[in-house]
Amino acid sequence: MPDIGLLNGDFMPLDRLMVPVEDRGYQFGDGVYEVIRTYHGAPFQVEAHLARLDRSARAIELVSPHRLEQWRQWIEEGIRRAGYGESKVYLQLTRGVAPRDHAFPSQVRPTAVLTVRQMMEINPALRTTGVEVMTLEDLRWARCDIKSLNLLGNVMARQRAKMAGAFEAIFVRNREVTEGAVSNVMIVRDGVVITPPEDHRILAGITRRLVLDLARKHGIGARERVVTAEDFHRADEIFLTGTTVEVLAVVRIDGKPVKTGRPGPVTSQLFNWFADEYLRPTG
Ligand code: PDD
Repeated sequence: MPDIGLLNGDFMPLDRLMVPVEDRGYQFGDGVYEVIRTYHGAPFQVEAHLARLDRSARAIELVSPHRLEQWRQWIEEGIRRAGYGESKVYLQLTRGVAPRDHAFPSQVRPTAVLTVRQMMEINPALRTTGVEVMTLEDLRWARCDIKSLNLLGNVMARQRAKMAGAFEAIFVRNREVTEGAVSNVMIVRDGVVITPPEDHRILAGITRRLVLDLARKHGIGARERVVTAEDFHRADEIFLTGTTVEVLAVVRIDGKPVKTGRPGPVTSQLFNWFADEYLRPTG
């Protein structure tokens, strides 16, 4: 089955999708994106992802020529054409193709790209073992709330983590934990879930919001407040949230175990509630 691409409304096999070298996404990272996965073949939280794409685009003064409904139709059509059991859909909107100049070109048509690939789940063994993370100074820019294509800070951090044998990099800015390179992060202290607040330092993760709502629905306290590096190192439990990781226990930080070194009970509960609500077949 083919991977599917879409360029400005035209579907094609992904390996035929070409964008000119002067696309501003390529030369400046001047664009925004989303990653959406399917469950049971249907795009998950598509409304929330499209709303965030719209917010990110507005934040960089990029006006999408396509309505959200159009994007939604492309997503559905791309998933149908690819025909995978579960798909990973990537959406990207850049300012368009123009001679290289930092300031915005006056007449330019934004480039809309969509790709559909088979969803590769993370290794299921990690659900039982949990993962290690590496803490790193957050060297990214000051608008991490925008899901922009400028991912070099995230790329360098994740690579450093990988080289150190860790699954994810966790950013620390001024002694405060912000988020992971591809995920949000939460700690559990005395049975309460705590995660950094939504501000310019983190991406307002869609999984993050669902998990906070699930915790509250099941009577677990959930606070959005600053998590210091000290809180992080003294946490009873730590876990990651995100489209690709869902809810994933962190059992080691920089080589040192988090409490018992095993996934904690609140994390496991939250993963099970998440799975009950969204992952398990509805029959
Ligand atoms: N990343 N924080 C960052 C920096 C991210 O890149 C992501 C997701 C998240 C989690 O957000 P959500 O729950 O909405 O997926 C948090 C995607 C998967 C990526 O860039 O591949």
